[in-house]
Amino acid sequence: MTLDTFSRPLKDLRISVTDRCNFRCVYCMPKEVFGSDYNYLARSEMLSYEEIVRFVRLLVNLGITKVRITGGEPLLRKDIDHLIKMLALIPDLDLTLTTNGALLTEDKCLALKTAGLQRITISLDSLNNDTFSSLNDVDFSVDEVINGIDNAASAGLTPIKINMVVMRSVNLESIVPMAKYFRDSGHILRFIEYMDVGDSNGWKLDEVVPSSEIVEIIGSQLPIEPIAPNYLGEVASRWQYTDGSGEIGLISSVSQPFCGDCSRLRLSARGELFTCLFASSGYDVRALLRGDTPDEKIVDTVASLWRNRDDRYSELRSEQTQQISRVEMSYIGG
Ligand code: GTP
Ligand code: 5AD
Ligand code: SF4
Ligand code: SF4
Repeated sequence: MTLDTFSRPLKDLRISVTDRCNFRCVYCMPKEVFGSDYNYLARSEMLSYEEIVRFVRLLVNLGITKVRITGGEPLLRKDIDHLIKMLALIPDLDLTLTTNGALLTEDKCLALKTAGLQRITISLDSLNNDTFSSLNDVDFSVDEVINGIDNAASAGLTPIKINMVVMRSVNLESIVPMAKYFRDSGHILRFIEYMDVGDSNGWKLDEVVPSSEIVEIIGSQLPIEPIAPNYLGEVASRWQYTDGSGEIGLISSVSQPFCGDCSRLRLSARGELFTCLFASSGYDVRALLRGDTPDEKIVDTVASLWRNRDDRYSELRSEQTQQISRVEMSYIGG
């Protein structure tokens, strides 16, 4: 086990495979900032699949047991199933991916499953088309995402988790319809507090709906009770409907920070390592992967980076911490 300065083990690696996305969610890539002239990474700047796989293999030596592929939108990266296939050959890895669901055709889902992807997380913030498009700023229908979810379920990419970011002025009214729709579906709906990640989304505390309020809103119509976490350090706190019709999760980075058990390391598409979602800068591991650095040197470098880690942004969140520039979520992945 590799422990940081707060004795937190390194367990999860989240890999962003592209900084591009076909959505423009207001809380992540607002179109005013991420317009047509935005300077995205060039192909040559991004880690190749071979470089990513080598890095993951090395990190298994440091205790990594879970890999999540993210973006931007990871399904925009060419031949993503090829990367999945190579990663799936590494034994004992929980291999999963987060997507906005827009590209989840039947064929894509089957290809991902055949490649060895175990399960999938899909973002969906409302069932109402107007609300949905006011959040993601593209002309895309809710039904298309629902189709993607159904295709993923048919392909066996289960259990499926649905991520819903809640913003008070935008989709508060969508909480109950979403809860009703997904109970009994076998999918786990997770409500995410709107976070001050990156410098672009104009975050305001007023827009955050604390999980306690979400629990009240749902509980007033559909009785729920808390249940124990699946594992130490689980990001979502779990609740179930008392009638046995399913489970939901609450991700409360603002109202109940979970830095205490944070075991996540993030690798950007460009090959920088970030020890916190709210970090200002990353460590350039691409230079090592592209040089003729021996495996042991790379392992030692990451181990030492992790051993010196003292991040706990969400616990320290304040007006002061918000003055410091933070990397964009589309760059390092959720
Ligand atoms: P599984 O338990 O493996 O299904 O994944 P998870 O609970 O880690 O969920 P997922 O990776 O889908 O994360 C859900 C959301 O939680 C992300 O999209 C982020 O919004 C938020 N999140 C995940 N990790 C962190 C973290 O380390 N810090 C903060 N503040 N938020 C996080
Ligand atoms: N606050 C909370 N969650 C966010 N996500 C992206 N930006 C934010 C934010 N500002 C979530 C999306 C998606 C995942 C990749 O990250 O909903 O599920
Ligand atoms: Fe794209 Fe996901 Fe960010 Fe939305 S939250 S802009 S879908 S990367
Ligand atoms: Fe981990 Fe940073 Fe999120 Fe805290 S704020 S849980 S340290 S990524």
